[in-house]
Amino acid sequence: MAEKSHDPWQSAMDHAVAVARKAGEMVRAALQVKDGCSPVQTKSSAVDLVTETDQEVERLIIQSVKSKFPSHRFIGEESVSSGEPCVLTTAPTWIIDPIDGTTNFVHGYPFVGVCIGFAVNQQVEWGVVYSAIEDKMYTARRGGGAFCNGRPLQVSPQTDVHRAMAATEFGSNRDPDVVDKIFSSLRKVLSLPVHGVRGAGSAALNMCAVASGAVEVYYETGIHVWDVAAASVIVTEAGGVLFDTTGGAVDLMSRRIVAANNKTIATRIIEQLDVYRPERDDHGAPDGAQDGAPQ
Ligand code: IPD
Ligand code: CA
Repeated sequence: MAEKSHDPWQSAMDHAVAVARKAGEMVRAALQVKDGCSPVQTKSSAVDLVTETDQEVERLIIQSVKSKFPSHRFIGEESVSSGEPCVLTTAPTWIIDPIDGTTNFVHGYPFVGVCIGFAVNQQVEWGVVYSAIEDKMYTARRGGGAFCNGRPLQVSPQTDVHRAMAATEFGSNRDPDVVDKIFSSLRKVLSLPVHGVRGAGSAALNMCAVASGAVEVYYETGIHVWDVAAASVIVTEAGGVLFDTTGGAVDLMSRRIVAANNKTIATRIIEQLDVYRPERDDHGAPDGAQDGAPQ
């Protein structure tokens, strides 16, 4: 057994940091060669892209983890796309997005994250997000703080939403009703007003920006568990909070998230959001989360 009894998951986290760095090298190398980052197929919509590098990076991570931790389970974006189940049991589970920001990768827009989260008993124990082009390694262990390249992270102390920077994304769902909800929410957030709204093109890197104090709040509907699992613990360990866009408790399978520096900012943003409910990642029954103020 690779785990140490006094600190059972540290060797897994150390392994994740090493393999994320290797994955980042693959991402950078692919950006240097012709067609290295060309989309090879689309997934849920014509603008939901996947490249060979996404698939190769996921294979690299899973193979290397399997050889060291043979009993552990996986939820990987590309494995789920190929038909593997997306189920979070109580078993130690690696939750992997080989490239968060695939559209950025395809266009050479320099924000792509290799995301590796690790959950036990359905709770994320640690997360690693490697911003491969910026060479920033974000790490957090539950109860142990959050770091970027070894430097401690702390969310912004801002409590006035009118002085806040928000982040969101437009996702890859072009259903007119969904696009309407995205824009009506954005209109209300902009009109609060907030200082600005940004989007890195990567859910995980937007969340790392919250953890770093660069933006106060990130919200999105349509993300997947692999986009946000690793970054979720980075946000909370930097002192931030997570909610569902309904204002209820976050559920990583629900495909809705608000990550904020504090509850005051989260509440003001949640009040502006038009809630919609995409199909859950685990295809479970629609949740019963009620709209309302964060609990
Ligand atoms: C996507 C990115 C994007 C967000 C989408 C995600 P991918 O992940 O995080 O910023 O808007 O909702 O699915 O497809 O690049 O791994
Ligand atoms: Ca991805």
